[in-house]
Amino acid sequence: MVLNFAHRGSLTEAPENTLPAFQKAIDHGTQAIELDIQLTKDQQLVVCHDHNLSRFNSRSKKPIKEMTLKEIKAIDLSSKFNTDFPQTTLVTLSEVLALCPNHIKINIEIKNIPVIYEGIEEKLIECLSAHNRFHNIIISSFDHLALKKVQDMVPSMPIGMLFYYRILQPWKYAKQSGLVVTSIHPNQVYTDRLFVEQCKSFGYQVFPYTVNKIERYEELVEYGVDGVFSNNPAIFMKS
Ligand code: G3P
Ligand code: CA
Repeated sequence: MVLNFAHRGSLTEAPENTLPAFQKAIDHGTQAIELDIQLTKDQQLVVCHDHNLSRFNSRSKKPIKEMTLKEIKAIDLSSKFNTDFPQTTLVTLSEVLALCPNHIKINIEIKNIPVIYEGIEEKLIECLSAHNRFHNIIISSFDHLALKKVQDMVPSMPIGMLFYYRILQPWKYAKQSGLVVTSIHPNQVYTDRLFVEQCKSFGYQVFPYTVNKIERYEELVEYGVDGVFSNNPAIFMKS
């Protein structure tokens, strides 16, 4: 049994991390989605991967943290998909929680580093409380201090520890971190059979990112991963 996450929604079919992208993934029957959160200047939780919107709108160079939600909502992200999704904008985490049925697991990645959003962990827990949505949530981050803050506030919250670099024995690091880690989220490029076996022997689930080729996906499943993050509907539909 694997659980595959639609990475930033279905980003090949609609602007990433937007409601149309999440709706597409839901329509495909995905059992899980992944998204990234940041804080605006007026302390609103928005769903966005990059620290500014220049990749989507070349005129928008201002960092997310220096813009209000109102300013952000005025920016059209649809350029790549303009015929299908006119006037698509960033959304708040609250809007995604309202869209997403409870049976769908949501991996919420706190997008700290290089920007550190002080207080984002409290805002996140406030938002989940407002939606009464602690079920089927996993919080991940490359910023392990952010994970600690979340776990200190909600000890039962599943925590996914993200790793970008190929560090030595991340399973031991996770164990010694003092955090109760549910899953390890490694870059897929270095995830091999031994890596998966070691994580499993330490009691961790393994969810590599970002796996878009079917052959690589099947190899990782054969190694024993618990699922992957994928941009490819043919993969995330399998969950
Ligand atoms: O959470 C998995 C993956 O999304 C982490 O990398 O850069 O795509 O946010 P990135
Ligand atoms: Ca992410």
